[in-house]
Amino acid sequence: MDHFLYKNNELLAEDCSVAELARTHGTPLYIYSRATLERHWHAFDRAVADHPHLICYAVKANSNIAVLNVLARLGSGFDIVSGGELLRVIEAGGEPAKVVFSGVGKTAAEMEMALNLDILCFNVESAAELEQLNIVAGRIGKIAPVSLRINPDVDAGTHPYISTGLKDNKFGIAMEQAEAIFARAAALPNLEIKGVDCHIGSQLTEIQPFLDAMDRMLALIDRLAEQGIHIEHFDVGGGLGVSYGDETPPQPDVYAAALLERLGSRKLKLIFEPGRAIAANAGIFVTQVLYLKSNDDKHFALVDGAMNDLIRPALYSAWQNIIPVKPRDGKTLNYDIVGPICETGDFLGKDRELNLAAGDYLAVCSSGAYGFTMSSNYNSRPRSAEVMVDGEQAFVIREREKLTQLWQGEQLLP
Ligand code: LLP
Repeated sequence: MDHFLYKNNELLAEDCSVAELARTHGTPLYIYSRATLERHWHAFDRAVADHPHLICYAVKANSNIAVLNVLARLGSGFDIVSGGELLRVIEAGGEPAKVVFSGVGKTAAEMEMALNLDILCFNVESAAELEQLNIVAGRIGKIAPVSLRINPDVDAGTHPYISTGLKDNKFGIAMEQAEAIFARAAALPNLEIKGVDCHIGSQLTEIQPFLDAMDRMLALIDRLAEQGIHIEHFDVGGGLGVSYGDETPPQPDVYAAALLERLGSRKLKLIFEPGRAIAANAGIFVTQVLYLKSNDDKHFALVDGAMNDLIRPALYSAWQNIIPVKPRDGKTLNYDIVGPICETGDFLGKDRELNLAAGDYLAVCSSGAYGFTMSSNYNSRPRSAEVMVDGEQAFVIREREKLTQLWQGEQLLP
């Protein structure tokens, strides 16, 4: 459930008129709903209520500091993948003690920054990274808390670009190497083993792959216990899907109940790293129709938003619903909704039945995750503004980029 609903034939974001926000702040524009973010976070947190756990929101999904701050105020932890994301969390008032650091290529500088801030755990992805972390921690006199990310080799059944738990993927440590690398971690002086983790992919709509991964990971944890290696937490990663269209992914309570059942009587603390499930349906992307054009076969709506603002359709052929901000009665046509960028792949949606006129506003739904964070300046287009609504109030949480910012930091030759 989200808080973008029609009332009197116009789209509202909570109690704010989307058309009015678009007029006031210009388009293209991202609009997020605070109530939806909070609702989704609570749905996760409540789902595992009695069992020791921490929800570490995956910052990469939407890293605006206002979004992070809303979640930090609920007591959220954070899953980060770079020094930049770590500093965003701090800037937003997040607690380093609730931060897990994922990612296959952490640099020594990022490790040092995270160690100095005393984060909760490093999710280590290779033997080489483990050695490096031990060296960095030793150099600055710290003990690094570590979890090893194991690749459980299960097929998440999702888009190949966002599937991460197969042997062929670059992520994690192969299961057959896991015990040897844990033994090495236990022997290194500047590390302390805290947990194990896995993340098998994103936008999963079935529960079975999560359970397959969990079974393999729990078997590993049991084997480690026999070898005297004690695991405090199991980080199950993120990946729970959302409905963009007709998908029916399990709700967080069903998902959590299934995992808890598998966990049995084990006392392990669970860490979750949801990104999309919290942010996707908490945001829309609003764009204005510039021109309509037709040829013998096709109708195009040229809009002012493009693949640089929202790349998911172009990159993954992702389908996101596109709805009119003020629906018109009358005859619809079958439109491709395309942007101004000089690429055939620059579309937000294809084959959409809509009744449109130039000047109309359209909302691309489910754009709160992997929307703005994946945006770029391609074609020298300034990045969109971002607004967060809270009931009847709306706040600019990121100003639209100015044209002169586009070449900030660039230099002419002498
Ligand atoms: N934890 C780790 C280690 C991850 O790599 C990811 C996502 C997450 C958590 C959060 O996953 P989520 O709950 O959001 O599925 N740009 C793509 C999605 C890439 C996901 C990458 N990793 C998209 O727009 O569909």
